[in-house]
Amino acid sequence: GLPPVITVDGPSGVGKGLVTRWLAERLGFHRLDSGALYRILALAAHRRHIDLHDADTVAALAPGLDIRFVGATEDDEAILVDGEDWTHDVRKESTGALASMIAAQPSVRAALLQRQRDFREAPGLIGDGRDMGTVVFTDAVLKIFMDASPDERAQRRHKQLSAKGIEAKIPALREEIRARDERDRNRPIAPLKAADGAEVVDTTGLLPAQVLAKIEALLVRSG
Ligand code: C5P
Repeated sequence: GLPPVITVDGPSGVGKGLVTRWLAERLGFHRLDSGALYRILALAAHRRHIDLHDADTVAALAPGLDIRFVGATEDDEAILVDGEDWTHDVRKESTGALASMIAAQPSVRAALLQRQRDFREAPGLIGDGRDMGTVVFTDAVLKIFMDASPDERAQRRHKQLSAKGIEAKIPALREEIRARDERDRNRPIAPLKAADGAEVVDTTGLLPAQVLAKIEALLVRSG
């Protein structure tokens, strides 16, 4: 059969990166950062001055992009696109906003679908995103849906971005995240929501170690 997949979905700034990196390390599995694929495609279109509403032209760019993820931790992460280092620009909140615009387009999602499934290699995969459990890997052995209050997510995202040398003001960031999540939750195709049978983990007020303890408990329980 196919290698097992564990999916982790949820809104921005909820701690999916922490959890999926930890799971990948703990189980020796590969990790798919599906949001990065949407970000990269949006940025590639933007740089070519393609109108982001022109979904088919944006989608047509996807197969030609040479995308490489280097490094397993958040600190040594590098994203190479056609041999260029795009890490900094990919991580900006403005790029997240562009990504969520194109992500509402069916042809864009279709263009990235197989590319995401190709990450499924032995011994297994941890999928990080919005629709990992609902669309891309419906046969996952464990589906996790993470959530946290909007204020807490804005603060976490702010901390994360400043650690990467990306400036952002908390009120503006909170508003950008709110708009992006609303778009992601309300789009007709692959909206952000918990998959059937998903384990819902609310991380509001929890320290990273406490979040990971909850995930560990889910792992043990799911065998
Ligand atoms: O997770 P990240 O913030 O990098 O995702 C950027 C955007 O890409 C999301 O706001 C969402 O619109 C889109 N996305 C998606 N489906 C995924 C992952 C990300 O629609 N599986």
